[in-house]
Amino acid sequence: MKTFIKNIGQLATLASSKKGARKKEDMSNLAIIENGAILMKNGLIEAIGTTQELQSQYMNELKDALIFNANGKLVTPGLVDPHTHIAYGGSREQEFDLRLRGASYMDIMNAGGGIHATMRMTREATEDELVAQTAKRLDGFAKHGVTTVEGKSGYGMDLETELKQLRVMKRLQQSHALDIVPTFMGAHAVPKEYKGREDEFVDIIIRDMLPKVAQEKLAEFNDVFCEKDVYTPQQAERILEAGKKLGLVPKIHADEIVSYGGAELAAKVGAISAEHLLKVSDEGIRQMAEKNVIACLLPATALFLREEAAPGRKLIDEGVAVAISTDCNPGSSPTVSMPLVMNLACISMRLTPAEALTAATYNAAYAINRQEFIGSLEVGKKADVVLWDVASYEELQYLFGVNHVKSVWKSGKKIV
Ligand code: NIG
Ligand code: FE
Repeated sequence: MKTFIKNIGQLATLASSKKGARKKEDMSNLAIIENGAILMKNGLIEAIGTTQELQSQYMNELKDALIFNANGKLVTPGLVDPHTHIAYGGSREQEFDLRLRGASYMDIMNAGGGIHATMRMTREATEDELVAQTAKRLDGFAKHGVTTVEGKSGYGMDLETELKQLRVMKRLQQSHALDIVPTFMGAHAVPKEYKGREDEFVDIIIRDMLPKVAQEKLAEFNDVFCEKDVYTPQQAERILEAGKKLGLVPKIHADEIVSYGGAELAAKVGAISAEHLLKVSDEGIRQMAEKNVIACLLPATALFLREEAAPGRKLIDEGVAVAISTDCNPGSSPTVSMPLVMNLACISMRLTPAEALTAATYNAAYAINRQEFIGSLEVGKKADVVLWDVASYEELQYLFGVNHVKSVWKSGKKIV
């Protein structure tokens, strides 16, 4: 099957010959083609250039291609969401109400709500129910221009339910149009019965859970909520090192609520990314830049928790590659909108419109080790493409609070 999109006013390819997630001024280089065109074939990008070039060079190929006229609008790579908790049961809107009356996120969690509440609802749900609920969320992502989503377990906190969440994602990888990249996050909270005996639960994760997850090839990454009153940097390090021996790449929920050495730990264990970073220390930033740890920033979470966002501008200026994500989850960020996250990256973290787009595509692909296949529009990469109902990427980041998606192609197939 062949599809040709022509008359693209601004085609932001994000193509690059450099290796590695983009830092500093490279985050502003969108490699734009004016009056562009894309030819997609067999799920991949066959050719990319100006409309004129492609029309003359591929005259024969175009005879039996589906043709779309972009009418001068913006085209970008499919957005990549590198950090979500999509496979969960139930909902937590009552906590939103409680928090607005003054309760804190951690108060609610320590009282048995929060992640514990979703854990109970996820344990109760059948695999089929979770597949149906998660598929609906993935549909929402697609409608907002997202074509690849990372997803974490962590609402089971027992072997059976952690595996159930990961299997849900595996089934959806097979049945849903979007790509899902799975992460094991057994250390997402401390189960109530292990409060004060956290090390014992860490032992269970290392002895029982990680080997099973690795053996069944259910995850590529291993994440830990390293936070005061959750897991210490030492406990997180044990879990992440154990995962590494089994081939699971470390990620860390770091320095979200207090400055706790999470960024430093990410540098020490060679994590692919550190997430949140609202309270990251200067030394943590320095070490992340040095060790090429990607900062995965979640400005919708900061907004929803009514916290000051992570120092995105500073991280970029100090040489850290920045990616952004929804953190889609029922407690701290119940959104599927990456466009909103790009807007917030500009508004609350002072990323420029170009940097925000790079953070949501090219660098986000690096944060989940998919850079060979997605994150930019280049010959041979997946034909994951979004046509927006705006003329430029500046307009996309500026007109906030509106879904500007017009069409989405996933692996060359039109899904929206
Ligand atoms: O990334 N911080 C920990 N985990 C999630 C929230 C999960 C929840 O509240 O259900 C996060 O924000
Ligand atoms: Fe998260």
